[in-house]
Amino acid sequence: MAEDRCREDFKDIEDLKACVALFGPCIVKNLKQGETKLWCTCGLSKSQPWCDNSHKETPFKPLVWRVTGTLKDGRAQTMYSLCGCKYSSSRPYCD
Ligand code: FES
Repeated sequence: MAEDRCREDFKDIEDLKACVALFGPCIVKNLKQGETKLWCTCGLSKSQPWCDNSHKETPFKPLVWRVTGTLKDGRAQTMYSLCGCKYSSSRPYCD
């Protein structure tokens, strides 16, 4: 069973890796500037890219992200490309 194999491979808490939720970005729209969002770091949430508390019982914690951004024309940015695989080097943004 895959689940048993995961347990065999697990040696240390540092060995834990996030699940790949999506092989690509999550495009999110209609965000409001200044709004605080909880971005899922574990990959287990059913509400990607946001945390739904599925990380409980794991050492993962959501990343607290404050929506900020301005478009070149000065308008507030409302659409973002957020990481779906959980391995971006500039989380929560897709890289
Ligand atoms: S559900 Fe993944 S960090 Fe909360």
